[in-house]
Amino acid sequence: MDINKIQNLRNQAISSILEAKDKKELERLRIYYLGRKGEISQLIKKLPKLESEEKKEIGSSLNDAKRAIEEAIQNKSSTISHQSLVMDKEWLDVTAPGEKLPQGHLHLISQAIREISAVFGKIGFTRVNYPEVEREWYSFEALNMPQDHPARDDYESFFLDQKPHSKLGRMVITPHTSSGQIREMQRTKPPIRMINISRCGRPNYDATHTPTFHQFEGLVIDKNINLTHLKGIFDYFVVNFFGPKRKIRLRPFHFQFTEPSLELDINCPLCLGKGCKVCKSGWHELGGSGMVHPLVLKNGGVDPKKYSGFAFGWGVERAYLMKSGLNLNDVRLLYEPDLRFINQF
Ligand code: PHE
Repeated sequence: MDINKIQNLRNQAISSILEAKDKKELERLRIYYLGRKGEISQLIKKLPKLESEEKKEIGSSLNDAKRAIEEAIQNKSSTISHQSLVMDKEWLDVTAPGEKLPQGHLHLISQAIREISAVFGKIGFTRVNYPEVEREWYSFEALNMPQDHPARDDYESFFLDQKPHSKLGRMVITPHTSSGQIREMQRTKPPIRMINISRCGRPNYDATHTPTFHQFEGLVIDKNINLTHLKGIFDYFVVNFFGPKRKIRLRPFHFQFTEPSLELDINCPLCLGKGCKVCKSGWHELGGSGMVHPLVLKNGGVDPKKYSGFAFGWGVERAYLMKSGLNLNDVRLLYEPDLRFINQF
């Protein structure tokens, strides 16, 4: 037995301990070197047989080696404990970029209003905003809707409990954006290209109606405006708002304030007009339109002999649902705080 052999054993032990990957391996090394039958222990057992001088020297060297190996095992063991603690539970890299918070977005109706304004803005329509609480004269009278018109019943419009104006009548929550036609004619002179988007109210609540809804009203007045201009604008809007595969269909209808009057249908976003479970006929109604009635022009201060025009008034909610192919069966979903239904298509 010599000192060199003990030195080598000690070095070998310490380098293996430093490379140990886990506590199991460390325990295996401890038993190999320091266990009852371990390398160092076996040498210690041989000590009594040595000469006293040698015994002293070898003995202290073995004791040093034993202590050094024990210390190395102790240190490595706490390093491994610390590492696993940090890796498993407390890992924190303070230099890592922060987690991105989910971003909110504008309500779908606000998005639709912006898109509609942009489409009409490109062809020179001026976006205006008229009162959400109107006078009867603007909402009905001036639009050729007489006192006994059904829309003027309490169960068709929300009238405010206020003293009526002697000429302009009761106050009403704007039941449609058509009052904007009169206000725009009063505000400015032809040529007029107006897009009026506003919140409206009517006492209805079912799958296709909410008491609060939005309409966008278009008004074009100039010399020699006729039905072909109306159709041209509708074709432009439908392709630019709904997409290239969408088409329009015009049906004769009746409104008090347009003559002739038409209703506009758009082909279904799901079947593109073939007819499917959702649309049945292949078409969805968007809303009303027509050539502005001469009496309405007159009420707005425009000479019907010099000027003609067309108007349309469509629902923002309806237009949005038709565009996206969202659940077309229930407009009320748009007013729910939970908008997860957006992901259903
Ligand atoms: N104001 C009508 C409605 O709410 C729609 C309409 C607007 C019809 C303009 C013709 C012209 O149903």
